[in-house]
Amino acid sequence: MRDFKDILEIDREAFNPRNPSFDMYVYLAYGSDIFVADTGKKIVGYVVTMDLDQLRGKIVSIAVRKEFRGSGIGEHLMRRAIERLREKGKKEIALEVRVSNKIAQKLYEKLGFRIVETIPNYYSDGEDAYYMVLRFSEQ
Ligand SMILES: CC(C)(COP(=O)(O)OP(=O)(O)OC[C@H]1O[C@@H](n2cnc3c(N)ncnc32)[C@H](O)[C@@H]1OP(=O)(O)O)[C@@H](O)C(=O)NCCC(=O)NCCS
Repeated sequence: MRDFKDILEIDREAFNPRNPSFDMYVYLAYGSDIFVADTGKKIVGYVVTMDLDQLRGKIVSIAVRKEFRGSGIGEHLMRRAIERLREKGKKEIALEVRVSNKIAQKLYEKLGFRIVETIPNYYSDGEDAYYMVLRFSEQ
């Protein structure tokens, strides 16, 4: 994929400063839906979704390059991903987010996601995750 290198670079900048993200290789290799934000010169953000089953989808990962944050790109990518999953017939979309990541939580809440559960020790450094869900029937 043409954008592969950029996506991995953004992923590293956002989540893994030292190590390439193995998960990201797997998702890119196994054909999830990926949307990118492209300025025409370079890729500045991406979102990856996947099917959990026929009725449920998942936002696997989203990130925007640091210098492009705060200008609506993340929200645009999320809306596009949600739209795509909805087109595919999903009734709900799930995601996990670090309890400390208030910026991402604010974005997800703005789009209708709600915290349904805390998953203890979810991340490799021991941090808990919020499990957030968007249900279309509640919209
Ligand atoms: C989370 C992330 C993708 C948001 O992307 P972004 O392009 O900066 O976000 P947007 O400019 O589209 O903002 C959309 C909404 O997000 C929230 N938000 C964004 N930046 C924020 C900030 N600095 N403080 C508080 N809320 C913020 C707001 O709700 C905002 O809506 P508003 O402008 O009406 O207030 C981006 O911060 C990022 O890449 N972070 C690092 C990776 C990450 O944490 N990914 C999520 C992992 S679960």
